[in-house]
Formats: sequence, structure tokens, C-alpha cells
Amino acid sequence: MDFPQKLKACWHPVGYSKEIGEQPFGTFLLDQAVVIWRGADGQAHAMRDLCIHRGTALSLGWVKDDCLVCPYHAWEYDKKGACVFIPQAPEAHIPEKAKTPTYHCVERYGLVWVALESPGYSLPEIPELEDADWKVVQTGPFDWKSDSSRQTENFTDFGHFPWVHPGLLGDPERPEVPKCKVEKKGAVLHYSIVRPEATNTDEFPVFANDDVVQPERRSVYRLHLPYTIVLRLGWGGEKGMVYFFVSQPISKNKCRGYCIIGRNYDKDEPDTVLQNFEQVIFDQDKRIVESQRPEQVPFDFAEELHLKFDAVAMNYRKAMKAEGLA
Ligand code: FES
Ligand SMILES: [Fe+2]
Repeated sequence: MDFPQKLKACWHPVGYSKEIGEQPFGTFLLDQAVVIWRGADGQAHAMRDLCIHRGTALSLGWVKDDCLVCPYHAWEYDKKGACVFIPQAPEAHIPEKAKTPTYHCVERYGLVWVALESPGYSLPEIPELEDADWKVVQTGPFDWKSDSSRQTENFTDFGHFPWVHPGLLGDPERPEVPKCKVEKKGAVLHYSIVRPEATNTDEFPVFANDDVVQPERRSVYRLHLPYTIVLRLGWGGEKGMVYFFVSQPISKNKCRGYCIIGRNYDKDEPDTVLQNFEQVIFDQDKRIVESQRPEQVPFDFAEELHLKFDAVAMNYRKAMKAEGLA
């Protein structure tokens, strides 16, 4: 089964900008091998990671004179994907067929984004992440053997916090999930919740809930279909946090999550505190989600058992189907 065409026409992250340096960077998106490389001006380009000559991965090559060079026989491809030099026959006419498809590629929020086909939705606007008064920390990436739909649903699943993350994100003494109304506006689900959370630990003092006995967090969610979540957290005061989570659909049952966190407090805290905290959280989730069958979220309601507090998952599945992304 192939991926829905509409999924190919979405922006997906393929790596943190910092991961893509002078060496070409090979990855997969929806089963397609993709190479990302930077031209002379530093701009990132994306193309099929396959040399037309003998099918070698171009990502094993190198960049020279604003071209990507194949590692096998050193054919040179420009940023439009056209082969412009064949060292074995420098005088010969270069055949029309000597090229590799290129993809849409932009950089924003410290990520490189690729769309295999003309993107149907724009990237979410998150002013906090581009505001100098906010400290931004990149965590992960988190490579999981699961589908991006499972990784995304897990990030916004309220019922599991006390059980999978006791003492870190939830309190097993307060497992009830408050009501949550989900509204679909275009390809974005809007919902918010005030829910019990755990008090900060000494090891990970990351949330602004100090000195509160039974803390509660206000969470405002925007779930941008298919695999992006913008979550704004607050505790009733000035202090705020924004979580930007997005999952790269590498292949069926293989994904890579990126979690970028902005805060307007504790700006001097070393990045490693949040990075280590999220590593613990995501590892706690990983073993659960990798065990789920089927690996991809079943978009047919009859296949799993939904209760009222699963409103987000139900709306997510319904909306993915309605948008032709399932
Ligand atoms: S395989 Fe790429 S140049 Fe020969
Ligand atoms: Fe979790």
C-alpha cells in the first residue's frame, strides 16, 4: 500500500538544521530516499537520494562547486537535480535523462522541512520560537519503530500521564481525565485542558509549578494535521512554555520525533536539563508505543475501544480521514 498522495503534499521535518552541515545528509520520507545538502550560500536543497547512473546513494558523496557529486563515478548534480558534468566523458552531450527529482525544502524553527509534492498546508506560526525573549531548546530527535500517527497521538494522550510518567508528568492519585472539547478548523484541531500534573522533581526542575501542593497545568493545544502539535502550557501566572512537537514519517512503522521547547523563564538553566528530561519521558513512551498493534493508528473507529475521554484521538482519526491523510 502506498502513502496517500496528500501526505506527500505536506511539509515534514527531515532533520534539525544543526544536523545538516557540509556533508550531504541522507534520510527517508514516506519510504522515499531523500538527500539534503547545502549549496555554496548555505541554503538547503532536497532531492531523491539516487544517482541515475547506477543507483548509488548521492548522500554518500560530497559537495563541490555548488553541486552534489555522486560517490561512485563523480557525476555532478546541480540544485535543480540536473547532471551537469560526467568526468568519464567531459566532452559528450549529457543525456536529458541524467537528473534526479528535487523536492520542496525550507528551514524554519531550527528544522529542515521537505515536501515531496507541492505542500497543501503551511507551517504553523509559533511567534514564541522566534522571539528573543524566549529561550528555545531542541530535544531529541526520538527514533521510534512506530508509525508517526501513533507517536503523534501519544504526545497528546491525557490518560497515560500518571501511569507512564508517574511523578514527572502525572499523579497516579489523580488519574481522572477532565472533559475536553475538540474543534476542527481547517486542518487544525483546537482543544485545551486543565489537568493535574506532578510537582517538579529536584532532578528536573522544568515546570513553573513550584510550591504548589497539587499542581495543575493549563494546556492549549493546536494539532496541525497530520503530525504536528503546538502545545502552550501555563500555570496561571506570567510564566509560559511552548512545546512544538512534530513527527517525521520515515516509513510505515518508522518515525522520528522532534520536540522543540520554548520558555520565558529559567533562561539560564542548561539545555541538558530539558534534553535529559525529554529523553526520559520519550523513552518511557517508546516502549509502550512500539508495542501497539497495528503499528499505525486504525482510522476505523470500530477497531479499538474509545471512551469519552479519548475525544482527542477520535477527532484526530476522524479529521485525518476527512482530510484524505489516512
Ligand atoms: S553511480 Fe553515480 S556516477 Fe555512477
Ligand atoms: Fe507520554
